[in-house]
Amino acid sequence: MPVITFANTKGGAGKTTAVLLLATELARQGYRVTILDADPQHWISRWHEISGHVANISVIDFVTTASLPQHISENKQNTDYFIIDLPGARNPLLATAVGLSDHVLIPIQGCAMDARGGAQVLELLQYLADKAGIKIGHSVVLTRVNSMVTTRALQLVKALLNERHVPVLDTAIIERSAFRDIFDCGGTLHTMDPTRVSNLDKARENALCFAEEIIRKVPGRLPVAVRLANAMGRAA
Ligand SMILES: Nc1ncnc2c1ncn2[C@@H]1O[C@H](COP(=O)(O)OP(=O)(O)O)[C@@H](O)[C@H]1O
Ligand SMILES: [Mg+2]
Repeated sequence: MPVITFANTKGGAGKTTAVLLLATELARQGYRVTILDADPQHWISRWHEISGHVANISVIDFVTTASLPQHISENKQNTDYFIIDLPGARNPLLATAVGLSDHVLIPIQGCAMDARGGAQVLELLQYLADKAGIKIGHSVVLTRVNSMVTTRALQLVKALLNERHVPVLDTAIIERSAFRDIFDCGGTLHTMDPTRVSNLDKARENALCFAEEIIRKVPGRLPVAVRLANAMGRAA
């Protein structure tokens, strides 16, 4: 079961939002997801509280540097993906979480392009590779991108980062009110009312593309029952 960490030492980059979008989409596809909430603002835990039971999602709150490895080993058997939400500040948890991860996702606010918080994470990954020979897969995901930004402009930003050998996901997370509202109303993009939330279809499509790209990069194993049901669905 892969461990995926969202890291950027700057608050407001869109980490917690991206965690929730990925977790809820993976859960919808049948993966059992455990979210480790290490964000002192506890947004994910609050979302979980107001949502009530969400199929395939467990949330562990108050995760610390000391407790993190234990949470992972204790929940291995019943989890297909672990997702770690980190604080938006430089913190000892960062190195611990990164060290336990199969993939680190670095959300960088697309339009602001204030990449300093992301650069600190990339520096840590480089340090681990150089000094300890520990190579951890990672990618930048551009977040909160204005829906008016053209594909061409986005391609330019991606090319710029790629030139510096920074891998960037093809899917950018667009600035959508649905991604904000989900924290207020609980549930998922698929329990929201499309007549009340603007561009909900586009938001769902965006979250799906984002999750599919991550599944391709960091494949998890669906539980046997889900694989069977999917196979029977395909055969029918
Ligand atoms: N894609 C998005 N669309 C709309 N609002 C967003 C998006 N990503 C983040 N936000 C908003 O920006 C603020 C900071 O985002 P958050 O995910 O909490 O960042 P971080 O966890 O990095 O501090 C929140 O108010 C959140 O609702
Ligand atoms: Mg956060």
